[in-house]
Amino acid sequence: MPTPDQILRQLTSLRAAIRHHEERYYVLHDPEISDTEFDQLLHRLTALEVEHPELVTPDSPTQRVAGRPVEGFETVDHDVPMLSLDNAYDEAELTAFDQRVRKGLGSDVDEPIDYVAELKIDGLSIALHYLDGALRRGITRGDGVRGEDVTSNVRAIRGIPLVLRVAVPGNIEVRGEIFLPQASFDRMNAARTESGEPPFANPRNAAAGTMRTLDPALVERRQLGAYVYQLVETLVETPVELPGASQGDTKTAPRSDDASDVPVSATDDPRAGLSGQAVVLERLTAWGVPVDRHWRRCRGIGEAIEYCRTWADARHALPFGTDGVVIKVDRLADRARLGQTAKFPRWAMAFKFPAEQATTRLLRIDVNVGRTGAVTPYAVLEPVQLAGTTVQMATLHNADDVARKDVRAGDYVLVEKGGDIIPKVVKPILGRRPTGADAPVPFSMPTACPACDTALERGDDEVVWRCPNNQCPAKIRRGLLHFAGRRAMNIEGLGESLVNQLVDRGLVTDAADLYGLTTEELAGLERMGAKSAANLLAEIEASKVRGGAPVLFGLGVRHVGEGAAGLLAGRFGGLAGLLTASVDEMEAINGVGPIVAESVRAFLDDPRNRELLERLGAAGVRMDAERRDPADVKEQTLSGQTFVLTGTLTTMSREAATQAVEALGGKVIGSVSRKTRGVVFGADPGSKLAKAEALGVPTLDEAAFRQLIMADQ
Ligand code: IVH
Repeated sequence: MPTPDQILRQLTSLRAAIRHHEERYYVLHDPEISDTEFDQLLHRLTALEVEHPELVTPDSPTQRVAGRPVEGFETVDHDVPMLSLDNAYDEAELTAFDQRVRKGLGSDVDEPIDYVAELKIDGLSIALHYLDGALRRGITRGDGVRGEDVTSNVRAIRGIPLVLRVAVPGNIEVRGEIFLPQASFDRMNAARTESGEPPFANPRNAAAGTMRTLDPALVERRQLGAYVYQLVETLVETPVELPGASQGDTKTAPRSDDASDVPVSATDDPRAGLSGQAVVLERLTAWGVPVDRHWRRCRGIGEAIEYCRTWADARHALPFGTDGVVIKVDRLADRARLGQTAKFPRWAMAFKFPAEQATTRLLRIDVNVGRTGAVTPYAVLEPVQLAGTTVQMATLHNADDVARKDVRAGDYVLVEKGGDIIPKVVKPILGRRPTGADAPVPFSMPTACPACDTALERGDDEVVWRCPNNQCPAKIRRGLLHFAGRRAMNIEGLGESLVNQLVDRGLVTDAADLYGLTTEELAGLERMGAKSAANLLAEIEASKVRGGAPVLFGLGVRHVGEGAAGLLAGRFGGLAGLLTASVDEMEAINGVGPIVAESVRAFLDDPRNRELLERLGAAGVRMDAERRDPADVKEQTLSGQTFVLTGTLTTMSREAATQAVEALGGKVIGSVSRKTRGVVFGADPGSKLAKAEALGVPTLDEAAFRQLIMADQ
């Protein structure tokens, strides 16, 4: 029997080893051991902690995801406002920036300024607070003055250390960027497209969307990354040079409020001598904070411009998205002298990479009918490589825009990919426009809806043409997909091809019809067996209890997003209360403006919509204020049980498997312990399978797993 002391030592050394390897893997991207060996370490720690729950500490690597979704985020003030950056779009603007800096510092004409150039990470900014080296808080930028406390999600990001490698005394705040690596972004968007959800426009939106979820386990699964580029501290803002430090001078360094009264020797203070950005980045790296290693110290603006040129191309090979370079005056004392405007520091400039462009042939212009009936043109292109992907479609915004640019089918066109994933047509290459019999003709916007032939309409000051027909099959299809979407009624399995079949066969003409579908009707559809039909009906049934806000959002009232729907349903105790609410009462809600209020009122005053709500209610769809989880209603057969996935599943994605488990009250976690209910394995399973066998944990192949989740649905 090991003594308590021995157990404690073992726990401490295992945790230290895991932290070290987390840093090697997630921060330095240079692992020293295999994933299997890492899993084994984590497993040994978990097993030991299971035996000695009283010795589990909040900063243990096993405690990143505390387990429960949080209720909401608290708004907190930043101690120092989080500013934004001024932008430069070409080299001349960078030279002008350099001149302003030189003027501000009164520097000699020949003396180059030292800059640090860093990649501008395309994510969302985050402030991390450490107290005595332990992570205490993570706050989003918010409006720069106040942000949201997202600590529970920040802890779930493996690259962010829960404890620093060096015990930095007192409070420190570091700032950086949270991002979604390109590979995770691509995977996530593929899954979203498959399930009929709109893809995220860019990694930044995806990272921001992920950080807004209340479920740290989801944050962990999405595998966000983080890079830090700033240390916020009194010491840094008014840097103190500590020349006597080497002689053991006990000059008191600025301390945080909670530090003891004992003066700290400057030599001992890990924060001593932080005189410039380069030193700060090196020091942060030494503390185990993730720093993107591609930064460079540049002597003079010329070297910084050179850095921008290099990365404008080289960035495509990076595993994360970057939209520019940030050029910062290195010396912190100079920064203090330059100061800041209301919005940006005068000592930094963001250079934005020019958008990627390519030339290709525009094969034809098609139009698309959206959920609100908006009919918009888009370009079908001869496939072309652009910023690392093949592009064959591009937006053309609206008919006026096509006319203004004079883009015609048959033209060669310039396409551009900016920050968003959907490229756009910039202009036709007039010099290459075919002439004679092949000469392209100007685009003419259809006057009737391509789906239902109803005459299109447009408001006096509107640019968008709309199909006014509420029975338009294209609008119905889009509307149903939106209603079934994850952010609305979350009806898993009701994707594009199914919706098309339901509408084409006249089985469904609006959301309420979904609740009257029968197994027989569904079983007659393509690729729909009895089992899938039963599953879909169970999903539809489960959606009845989502509550008023998802119904309101799902019905696609113009201008009403998820947030406004939640506020409205919450304030009026559900949709019944909202039916009689006046525009003024709605507008009185903080976050609901006049446009939203008017739109909701108009929607509810339309007798057809009233009837739809009545039919939904009669079908048993709950529209009260409470946002309920089906968990509260349906018996939760996997409640409290944890599963581990390993290897590749062939009939479903990991995301889908995880959701299936969660829908039944269970949880999917990353490592196997004796308490694991089952290890689900696919092709090429990892060490987790062997571990499960060694621990006597049940293992399930894909078929057994499918049976388990289906039998329970
Ligand atoms: S420095 C005083 N460095 O870009 C502002 N920002 O467009 C200090 N960003 O809000 C910011 N990479 O979220 C800095 N290496 C980097 C950055 C970076 C990305 C973001 C940051 C900032 C935004 C401004």
